[in-house]
This record gives sequence, C-alpha cells and structure tokens, in this order.
Amino acid sequence: MEKGAKIYVAGHNGMVGSAIVRELKKQGYTNIICRDHSTLDLTRQAEVERFFEQEKPEYVFVAAALVGGIRANSERPVEFGLVNMQIACNVIKSAFDCGVKKLLYLGSACIYPNDCDFPIKEDALLSGRLEQTNEAYAIAKSFGTRLCEYYHREYGADFVAVMPANCYGENDSFDPKNCHVIPALIRKYHEAKQNGVKQIELWGTGSAKREFIYVDDLANACVFVMNNYSGNSFLNVGTSEEISILELTKIISETVGYTGEIVCDTSKPDGKLRNVIDSSRLISLGWKPKYTIRTGIKKLYEFYLKTIVNGGSGNE
Ligand SMILES: NC(=O)c1ccc[n+]([C@@H]2O[C@H](COP(=O)([O-])OP(=O)(O)OC[C@H]3O[C@@H](n4cnc5c(N)ncnc54)[C@H](OP(=O)(O)O)[C@@H]3O)[C@@H](O)[C@H]2O)c1
Repeated sequence: MEKGAKIYVAGHNGMVGSAIVRELKKQGYTNIICRDHSTLDLTRQAEVERFFEQEKPEYVFVAAALVGGIRANSERPVEFGLVNMQIACNVIKSAFDCGVKKLLYLGSACIYPNDCDFPIKEDALLSGRLEQTNEAYAIAKSFGTRLCEYYHREYGADFVAVMPANCYGENDSFDPKNCHVIPALIRKYHEAKQNGVKQIELWGTGSAKREFIYVDDLANACVFVMNNYSGNSFLNVGTSEEISILELTKIISETVGYTGEIVCDTSKPDGKLRNVIDSSRLISLGWKPKYTIRTGIKKLYEFYLKTIVNGGSGNE
C-alpha cells in the first residue's frame, strides 16, 4: 500500500478496527476513510454499493462484525448468522465490483471445528462439527473467509483473510455482563485489591491452556499481510505462546498488585484443555508479535486505569 492510498477500515470503532486505524496512522498512512455504523449499515446492500461507488477505496480492512459471548450467540443465532453473512457478502462483493486492489477480511480462531488437532492449522477450517453455541456465527465467518478465497480463485482478486487467536487490548469491553476473560480477570482482581478481598476462587484446576494476542500485534499483522501476502488461502495470526489459566491469573494478580490467595475450585469444569493455533505460515513470511502476555496485560491494565477507573467510562 502506498502511504497516500485510500484505505477503508470497516468497523473502525471496534477493538480490532480501531487498532488497525492506529497502526495505519503510526506507519504513516494518510488517507484512511471510516463510517460509523449509524451512518452506514453494512447489512444494507444498496447502501454499501452506493458507498463503494462514491468513495472507491483502493484497500479495505473488514473488521466490522456482530461479535458476542457464548450466551448472546446461543440465544440469537438468527441475528449472529444473518448480520455477519450480510456484512461479508455486501462488503466483499461491492469491493470487488468497484475494483478494490486488495481486501483483508477478519475471521476468528473460534470458528474452527471442535475436534481439531493442536496447534490448529489453516486446513482444519470446516473439517468437522462446529461448536454448537456459536454455530451461526462460525458458518457466517467461515463463508466470509472462503468468499475471499473464491474471489481469488475464480477472478484472481487479491482478497485474503486472517484467522486471529483470542484477542485482548485497548478498547476491550470491561462490562462484567459481556467481556472476554482477560478484561474480566483484570477487573475482578483490581476490585478485589481495592476491597481488601483475601481470597479469590478460580474455576477448575487452572491447567487449561489458551493463546492470546494483543490487539496492537493483531493490527500490525493485518497491515503486514496486506503488504506482504497474496496467497489463495487465509493465514492464522497468533503468538504461539500458550498459557495456562492459572499462570494467566497469576500474571494478572501480580500486574494489578493483588496479594490475596488464589484458590482453585476443582469441582468446576476446565473447559477445552488446549486451544492454540499454528501461525507458522505467517511467521515464515517474516512477521512476529511484539507483546508477550505479561507486557500486553500491563498495557491493558494501564488502559483500564486511565479510561475506566479514572476516566469515568460508563463501562465501570
Ligand atoms: N475480539 C477478539 O478476540 C477477536 C479475535 C479474533 C477475531 N476477531 C474478529 O475481529 C473482528 C472485529 O472484532 P472486534 O472484537 O473488534 O469486535 P467489536 O469490538 O464488537 O467491533 C465490531 C465493529 O463492527 C461494527 N458493526 C457491527 N455491525 C455493523 C453493521 N451492520 N454495520 C456497520 N458496522 C457494524 C460495530 O459497530 P457498533 O458497535 O456501532 O455496532 C463495531 O464497531 C470480528 O470479525 C471478529 O471475529 C476478534
């Protein structure tokens, strides 16, 4: 991408989209266009076509999606399936019709089937039964990912997708009703410290292992892929750093300065014992993450203190 190229970031207010905009600006890109959801609803085909015809972006990052936790996904499969399918179809087709030079679509490692071998390789997509709780989301995002590959194969379009690991970082939600594991634990341990709570219970043995990527690393990988990769298959984006839930909890308690005891409630389930993707194809292209889990959590805790605890965000 030339520094003055016209770049559209769909979903620029979200956690991933906002990080992509920050990364592009940091790297000196000057012509970034964005639209709020209220101005441009990407589920409306005619509006999306009009936007692309008027603006004619040269490069597109698709980070807009309806994203939610297990509960929202299992209670509202119609909405999660339809919205994500419509966003993928409308944006990818309009981009192609308007001659966009290159497009990058965000998939998610949570759409891989349940029974994959670890670390999960790209060819595991759609190779088995999908997780029931987010099946509609997974079908829609799998189609968006494949649609890029179909455009590449059938029309030679330079459309690629990435499949990121669990992500955390700036602009994460800290709303206890609807947040990911790392912000939930940061909030829980910070509040326990403030309230002098002596002991915190951890569900399960804490031995289940997970992989997390800091959102700035994900955004950096997206820009890297845009500039360096044009293959016909999508790429996993992870750190290859596996961490047990117990280790994660200890890093968070140390970071926030909680000195009480962590007690494992082994009567509770551990969930999947492992969940790590194989990012070797991306790494072999020369990309690597900058954040370790410890440095990423430190940065997110600073964000939490600045914007939520001291910033008076409604999130608190
Ligand atoms: N977060 C993760 O851990 C993670 C990991 C791997 C992959 N990803 C992928 O990254 C992408 C973005 O995730 P995220 O965590 O950044 O989600 P997010 O914070 O919820 O952001 C999604 C953005 O999309 C916008 N949007 C939703 N529906 C729209 C519509 N109909 N028209 C226009 N804009 C719409 C939202 O705007 P409003 O809020 O105004 O509706 C929001 O700004 C998703 O595809 C997700 O699968 C995320």
